[in-house]
Order: sequence, then structure tokens, then C-alpha cells
Amino acid sequence: MNQFLGQHILSVKQFDIDAINQIFDVADKMQRYAKRQARTRVLEGAILGNLFFEPSTRTRVSFGTAFNLLGGSVRETTGLSSSALAKGESLYDTARVLSGYSDVIAMRHPEIGSVAEFAKGSRVPCINGGDGANEHPTQALLDLYTIKKELQFHGKSIDGLHIAMVGDLKYGRTVHSLAKLLCLYKNVRFTFISPPELGMPQEIMDMITNHGHQLNLQHSIEGQFDADICYQTRVQEERFPSKDEADKDRGKFRLNNAIYTQHFESKTVIMHPLPRDSRADANELDNDLNRNPNRAIFRQTDNGVLVRMALFALALGVENLMEEYETPVPWHYADK
Ligand code: NCD
Repeated sequence: MNQFLGQHILSVKQFDIDAINQIFDVADKMQRYAKRQARTRVLEGAILGNLFFEPSTRTRVSFGTAFNLLGGSVRETTGLSSSALAKGESLYDTARVLSGYSDVIAMRHPEIGSVAEFAKGSRVPCINGGDGANEHPTQALLDLYTIKKELQFHGKSIDGLHIAMVGDLKYGRTVHSLAKLLCLYKNVRFTFISPPELGMPQEIMDMITNHGHQLNLQHSIEGQFDADICYQTRVQEERFPSKDEADKDRGKFRLNNAIYTQHFESKTVIMHPLPRDSRADANELDNDLNRNPNRAIFRQTDNGVLVRMALFALALGVENLMEEYETPVPWHYADK
């Protein structure tokens, strides 16, 4: 049974383990198309409304790419100032209008709860591409998919995982969604490393302990972490009350080869939702780790396409029809 058919995807709270496994099984099937071993036209004629009212590179483009790889077309609206929202139109009205032009909508907006609000007016499924500091469910799914693959490589499973989340855990929506999702598994150890003022919201820490997981809080990278995953984040300066406030925290938690070697195990997988802030005063994930095979950041971005393809296929009910609509790939495609 496909529980995603015609449904909005607004929060990771919607998922249980079976749902996640279903998404990941469909994502595995998408490798073939992402690697250009074949094309599928299963969504030919369908339109994705891709609405991004906050800066975005990989989320916006990977939603579009995922839809294109399934044969569908993409209509984009970017920037609040270039949409009718700037004329005072409500999210509800915009949703009524744009859902008339689309088969599915992906949306990012700076306000918490905005995508859920929008979804109330939508006649087609809406997928949350990030609503303020609240949630980023598709990022959490691609992060979890990556964690699963990386752990499989090391002969491990998600149950029993030890994850260190580092940096801005207050405003970072990716860590909010990922931490909630990981609560569904067994015996997870969470180590949160952040300045006191940028700690994980209490509600999420309560959720972790209520599920019986272990929680360890640190305000600096000190000691040895036997973490399977080190998940680094960017200081979300756009969500701070002022730039001065953000400047105080920028660059506090850097990860470079020396820090990694001193505090983490040689097999700890390095993740980051990206973009990493590479400016000198931040440099939270140094280029000197670029050659480290445990650096999974671009495997995450590649996996994002697979997971978003899976979500589209499930929401539109074509998850078993891709092969029926296959055609060959005539062009030379680089093996990436
Ligand atoms: C993240 C986001 O927008 O929340 N980026 C992303 O979607 N991959 C993280 C960030 O901007 O720091």
C-alpha cells in the first residue's frame, strides 16, 4: 500500500519505519535513472511547481532535477519579492492558484508553519522544502538514507548509531528533522556540541530521552568521540536577531583535519547539509578534509535526487511504473 499517494509531506513526524523503508526502496530503484543507465518518461506531462521563497541551490535544483529525471516539467517561482505574496496575497490564495497549474508543489519559505498553511489551500500534494527554523523533512530523509548507506559500508545499521551534531542546533532545521527521525530507531546515542545559546530545542531533547535514547551535551569539541557520524552545520545567520549576534558564534565550531584526527575515530563519517560557509571567519568544514574518504557531503547531495524522485513517484502513484515508461539514453554520459 502506498500511504503517500496524494498526500502532503510537511513534517518527519508523519513517518514510521515502514514508510521510511518504502521511500528508501523506491530511492534505490532511482539510481538507474540518476546514473543515466536508462530514461523514464513516467511523469511526462506532469508539472512540478517549485516555489522557493528563501535562498537555495541544492534543494531547489535537486527537486527540479528529480522531477525532470522522471520525465516531468518544472515551473519555478523564486523570491518573495517577485511573487504576488509581496502584494499582500495570502499563502492560501497563492496555493489555490498555483495548485491549479501543477500536479505537485515543493515549497520553501522563511516562516515556521508556512508550508503547512500553504498546503491547506493546495489542491495537489505539497512537499516542505524547509519552513524557517522548523523542519526540512526531505533533507532529513536524504541524510538518513546516506547514514544507512555509509553504515552499511562499515557493516553497521542505524540501530545503535552514535551521531554527533555540531554547531547551530537551535536554528538549524536539518538537525531538528534528522534528530526526530532518528528517534524511530533503537538505542541511538546523540552527542550535541554547540554553544549554550545555540542548543537543540528542549522539545526535541525531550523526545530523544522519552524514546529512551542517550543524550550527551557539550559546549566544545573536547575529548574523544566514538561517533559513527559527525554532522556539522552552518551558523544560520539569516535567523539570528542581528548579524552581530551571528558574528559572535560564527567560526566557533570548525572541523578540519587536525580537529577530526584528534577527536574523532578514523572511520567517523563526516556529513553536512551544505552549503558550508567557507569564508575565513567561518570555515566550519575545512577543505583539508576534501580527500578524506569519510567525507560524505557530496554523496548526500547525490542521494538527495534519489530520495526526492522517490517522494514524487510515491505522491503521484507511479512508484511501480518507471520501467514500463523506459527509453534508452542516446547521449554519452560521464560515469560520476
Ligand atoms: C540547509 C537548509 O536550507 O536548511 N540547506 C539545505 O537545504 N541543504 C542548511 C543550511 O542552509 O545551512
